[in-house]
Amino acid sequence: MALPDEIEAILIDNFVPKTSDLRVSSIPLPLPPEKRDTTLLIRTTHVSASHVDMLYFQGKHQNNRRHARPPFVLGTEFSGIIAYAPASSPFKPGDPVFGTARGAFADYVAVEAGTEGAVRRVPEAWGLRGAAAVGISGPVSYGALVYAGRMKKGETVLVLGAGGGLGVIAVQIAKQFGARVIAVVNTGAGSEGKVEMLKKLGADAVIGYQKEGWEEEVRKATPDGQGVHLVYDGVGAVLSSIKCCRFGGRVVIVGFAGRGGKMEDLKVNRVLLKQISLVGYRFGESSRQFPDHAKAVWDEFMQMVSEGKIKPVEYAESYNGLRDIPRALEDMHQRKVWGRAVVKISEEQGVEASRPRL
Ligand SMILES: NC(=O)c1ccc[n+]([C@@H]2O[C@H](COP(=O)([O-])OP(=O)(O)OC[C@H]3O[C@@H](n4cnc5c(N)ncnc54)[C@H](OP(=O)(O)O)[C@@H]3O)[C@@H](O)[C@H]2O)c1
Repeated sequence: MALPDEIEAILIDNFVPKTSDLRVSSIPLPLPPEKRDTTLLIRTTHVSASHVDMLYFQGKHQNNRRHARPPFVLGTEFSGIIAYAPASSPFKPGDPVFGTARGAFADYVAVEAGTEGAVRRVPEAWGLRGAAAVGISGPVSYGALVYAGRMKKGETVLVLGAGGGLGVIAVQIAKQFGARVIAVVNTGAGSEGKVEMLKKLGADAVIGYQKEGWEEEVRKATPDGQGVHLVYDGVGAVLSSIKCCRFGGRVVIVGFAGRGGKMEDLKVNRVLLKQISLVGYRFGESSRQFPDHAKAVWDEFMQMVSEGKIKPVEYAESYNGLRDIPRALEDMHQRKVWGRAVVKISEEQGVEASRPRL
């Protein structure tokens, strides 16, 4: 495959406040000669828009202080076709892969070879589009529920932010573990499709959080009315999570999608009174600190995938090309999206697979 010298990408040369400020620019192919022995180059076919991307271009993510400082190419989740692989790589040109790497919103994305979990073969049942929709959500949600949350069969698990990219995968993993799942989302006008989708994924109850006192509804939805055993919190609602817990419940803090960058002040006596276990989980950092953990989480999650137990959830709007990425991000920002908004970047060139869609 002949490689171009220049490609198009969404380059952040200064942090900007709005999706409408994002621009497509020409940049050099991210494969400098001195890195050819250690770099995989992937021609992106699909990318997905996530909450992390929103934070990144605004300079609001914790990584903006160190790793992601302008200039950088936006985007974290992609699928595509290997365009170049060093001789030592297990991949060869033409392989369909998906993965996570900064710089995904571009015609080509470079990934350092050997980074555990950064790039995987596309599962046949998902196809390239479905793989972009799942991306890193699988290991994040698996690690949070199974390792940090010590989820057990028969427990009642509450997923906050259940309609989001991470949430839809967390619901499926918890169901596959034999948990009873309560999904909490905004069930306001226009959310009918989201509620139906969560029920199809196996959620035993879907509860809206718009009404004051929704935590009581969650407790009532548990078999003995005492509250849930485990909360997966992707929105940053720890006080509400504790209210939903039974005595001795566990809360895994995964993200802060609902906080707009402002953290919650928590009266810690609540933790003591209910003997709550509160634990944070960051898959990326866990993987840097403990590479064996990343491998175990990926292997166990991909085992579920190979058994056909995890379905990608793609938001049913079509987005085409790099110039449509701001629209996908804006739809997410306006809370229209559920699952992941997937943007098609280039043709799959005959690589297709049958994939169950929701
Ligand atoms: N710990 C980790 O390793 C890790 C890895 C990746 C991402 N994260 C973090 O996890 C969180 C969730 O990520 P995600 O990719 O699932 O995000 P997402 O796809 O945007 O989903 C977030 C969900 O939160 C709900 N939400 C509630 N209040 C919101 C608000 N004010 N603004 C936006 N959404 C709101 C939305 O559902 P409703 O509209 O139904 O309320 C939305 O579906 C983010 O904070 C992300 O940075 C953590």
